[in-house]
Amino acid sequence: MIKVAPSILSADFTKMYDAIKMLERTSADYIHCDVMDGVFVPNITFGQYMVRDMRKHTKLPLDVHLMIQAPEKYVLEFAEAGADIITVHAEATAHLDRTLQLIKSAGKKCGVSLNPHTPLDVLDYVLKNIDMVLLMSVNPGFGGQSFIPSSLRKAAKLKAMIGERGLSVDIEMDGGIGPHNVREVTDAGVNVVVAGNSIFSADDPKDVISRLKLEKPPQRRFVSPGTPE
Ligand code: DX5
Ligand code: ZN
Repeated sequence: MIKVAPSILSADFTKMYDAIKMLERTSADYIHCDVMDGVFVPNITFGQYMVRDMRKHTKLPLDVHLMIQAPEKYVLEFAEAGADIITVHAEATAHLDRTLQLIKSAGKKCGVSLNPHTPLDVLDYVLKNIDMVLLMSVNPGFGGQSFIPSSLRKAAKLKAMIGERGLSVDIEMDGGIGPHNVREVTDAGVNVVVAGNSIFSADDPKDVISRLKLEKPPQRRFVSPGTPE
């Protein structure tokens, strides 16, 4: 079963309440919250108070993606604010294992995110302790970028690594995903799909979310063998 995590980075920040209520009327599984600090990534978004205020208005799980340097300084504040899943970047924390333990100590699910160039090796000694791996399929910092194709090979490799170890770890992918490429993404082993632009720029976000969940089969144009292209 594919889960969809719409990224509110692509919503109108002055209408966040409406965006949350809209998502509640869809089959979205999580709300993906992209926290950026202008240091780890070249952009700034919002912090723990946004998460706190969103928490007041929805029961949808808040999937908090921390694109911040030294996330260990803030993970407990995000936990306190009401995040359900807290994901940190392996590249942003010197003591990844300790940071993950901190998230767990707050009773939250923990995830590790990897930039497109970061090998899976960094997960070797922490994989058994985490709930989710978030593979970036764009360089983090902005919504609306193009999908990086090598992410598919990485997801397949990770899926095999998880299987070989008999673990149950979600594989989330983030960046440049829409109905046009979601099947390739899920075929590679991804079971949690993040999407910002493709959902929030659509006339019918609910329909896009259904298509991302593969609830609706992609429309294929029938071409008979004798039909010239
Ligand atoms: C990128 C963020 C993503 C991004 C996804 O740094 O982590 O969550 O906003 O947006 P789209 O789907 O527009 O690439
Ligand atoms: Zn994200």
